[in-house]
Amino acid sequence: MLLGFEALLSEHARTRTAIGAFTCYDLEVARAVLAAAAGRDVGVVLLISRDAFAGEGGDQLLAGVRAAAERSPARACVQLDHVSDLELIAAAFELGAGAVMADGSRSPFDENVALVQEAKRRADGFGAAVEAELGHVAGGEDVAAATEAGGLTDPAEAERFIAATDVSCLAVSIGNVHGDYVGQPRLDWGRLAEIESRVSVPLSLHGASGLADADLTRAVGSGVRKVNANTELRDAYLSATREGLDQALDGLRVLDLHLAQTEAVRGLVDRKIAAFTREAG
Ligand code: 13P
Repeated sequence: MLLGFEALLSEHARTRTAIGAFTCYDLEVARAVLAAAAGRDVGVVLLISRDAFAGEGGDQLLAGVRAAAERSPARACVQLDHVSDLELIAAAFELGAGAVMADGSRSPFDENVALVQEAKRRADGFGAAVEAELGHVAGGEDVAAATEAGGLTDPAEAERFIAATDVSCLAVSIGNVHGDYVGQPRLDWGRLAEIESRVSVPLSLHGASGLADADLTRAVGSGVRKVNANTELRDAYLSATREGLDQALDGLRVLDLHLAQTEAVRGLVDRKIAAFTREAG
């Protein structure tokens, strides 16, 4: 069933856990993510990447993923991820996205604030929500490559940013990257604690792929209330496709291949959700 972004975040704030947000490129992945969330009776965010939405049939993808969420027992919200184009933001709200991640993290502070304020103005007309990013989480959204951390979030700036924008959720850069980490990931726990103490809105951690489950659980224990993952889902999906292909070709069993893809992604998402909802030790 569809639920608002802020309602889902509040639910996770009450239980001191984080909501998982997972990128869906097709309905197999959306169904897998929803099944994993329903199995653990937790909320979930279904992410649509900017390029998937802007590309051919992106409107149908968002509408289809939303329909899957509507028909699922899982409490879910659809979010357009990492978008700085206001036309795309408006189009996503028109199609029923519950949230967008208005990403001005490559721009100077004032431009980031202006983008997010405008995105919020548009969201308000639809009863939808906006997440923003301060500092910059480096790395590709749809293509994985080894990536060094981008500019880290400055805690004092984060406080000013929230005062100016009043967004529903703030993505932080604390050593996390999209795609593959160069060497061992090293998150700046002190910085996270400082941001958490200065900022009243829920924090999100992007780039969960490649982080150890223990780090994810520690981040949640340190106040992170939303965790985004994509690369590991693509890996599970494509590996299952490779492994299931020969069998599927025998009789041209597309449905069997879809089942293998869905099962692989569901298993991975289930493990991730366990890490986001576990008590920090
Ligand atoms: P990963 O692809 O590194 O898991 O990051 C996904 C993400 O943060 C989407 O916003």
